[in-house]
Amino acid sequence: PDSAVNAPGGDVSLAGVSLAELAERHGTPVYVLDETEVRSRARAWRRALPDAEVVYAAKAFVCRAVVDWMAEEGLGLDVCSAGELELAATRGFPPERVVLHGNAKSPRDLRTALRIGVGRIVIDSDCEIARIASQVPKGATQKVLVRVLPGIEAGAHRKIRTGAEGQKFGLSIAGGDAEDAVVRVLGQPGLQLAGLHCHLGSQITSTEPYGEAVRRVVAFLARIRDRHGVTLPELDLGGGFAAAYLPGDAAPSPEAYGRRITEELSAACADFAYPLPRLTVEPGRSIMAPAGVALYRVLSVKRTGTQVFVAVDGGMSDNPRPALYGARYTVRMVGRTTAAPMRATTVVGRHCEAGDILAEDVELPEDVRPGDVLAVPASGAYQVSMASGYNMTGRPPVVAVSGGRSRLLLRRETFEDQRARDVGV
Ligand code: LLP
Repeated sequence: PDSAVNAPGGDVSLAGVSLAELAERHGTPVYVLDETEVRSRARAWRRALPDAEVVYAAKAFVCRAVVDWMAEEGLGLDVCSAGELELAATRGFPPERVVLHGNAKSPRDLRTALRIGVGRIVIDSDCEIARIASQVPKGATQKVLVRVLPGIEAGAHRKIRTGAEGQKFGLSIAGGDAEDAVVRVLGQPGLQLAGLHCHLGSQITSTEPYGEAVRRVVAFLARIRDRHGVTLPELDLGGGFAAAYLPGDAAPSPEAYGRRITEELSAACADFAYPLPRLTVEPGRSIMAPAGVALYRVLSVKRTGTQVFVAVDGGMSDNPRPALYGARYTVRMVGRTTAAPMRATTVVGRHCEAGDILAEDVELPEDVRPGDVLAVPASGAYQVSMASGYNMTGRPPVVAVSGGRSRLLLRRETFEDQRARDVGV
């Protein structure tokens, strides 16, 4: 889809559906998701790691259709709230393939997880160990993983580097917290310690940090065995695999990540004479980002000094990533052909902040004007799922395309929706 949208203008289509027509039919901003692309990326992960569990990180983007696609492609689901759990349950998603995450699971999250019977709960703090154990019905056991902090700096931005010491996630291996938690879990009859989890961060453009993580975690597994006499059968390495946003961005294939991980795992296990654990990975972005395109309509064009601002009808309420992480995107005009030369343009949103910038210094035709449709590729992950109610502009709809057809997955949030929850006087 990236290459389709990188055409110089004119009518661009995705999965045989014209983007300009979708913008017309559904209004803008609108997010378009290529179903075939999502499914084939999900399959690529399964092919890359045939002996592993591939668990899709729902936080990247989820709705009923996506839950169904993942179920059909044989993936599991990483969820981090009762809402995501309920959604999976309403679609009959196999509960044993669900992994519950969170550094602060609410009573409702835990209640829902135990009611649905999720396959794994990932322990992220000492204080939740007894809390979870006390809720497991007598005689039953809940499989859990302990989330360890390997102390690795990886990821595109400080705010998404979850494997480093000094941030809120995980239990430090170096600091001893991980070992303490393992011992405590082993002492809870209601909990079955299935293994360890670690998640390094997000948008990790190299396979190397995974190699390092595997070496550190396997060394820790061996230490647990030697000191406490338990061999743990599972290792969940989390997600974080990169997607390409700009031409030339590094985004290793699932095969490349998979090869690095399996090679390092075999080597590390051989070194410690540790039996190969069953592996889980949790890709989110790498499955979803490349399959989505955001469409906006130009509302105004402003020239000030040397800068050209093209303002569109969405912005940080549907895509907070540039404002939060300095994330960068390409932008293409679609639906109209022009011979006008290209020039450097700043595409801004409609929200009441100077920081509401979607893309700086992108090449757009000089004659771009109100009414034109702009497409932002690689928009499938962490945009709609992070959309907010800012300025009451209404969260955007999501349309799926495949085989020349489109269907609405999420409808646009209307004023009626907003009014319905405004129940005060
Ligand atoms: N597993 C766990 C435990 C996670 O916390 C995450 C993402 C994933 C898997 C999936 O990571 P992925 O493969 O999608 O990188 N909002 C940020 C990204 C936050 C990622 C949070 N955790 C962004 O837009 O860049």
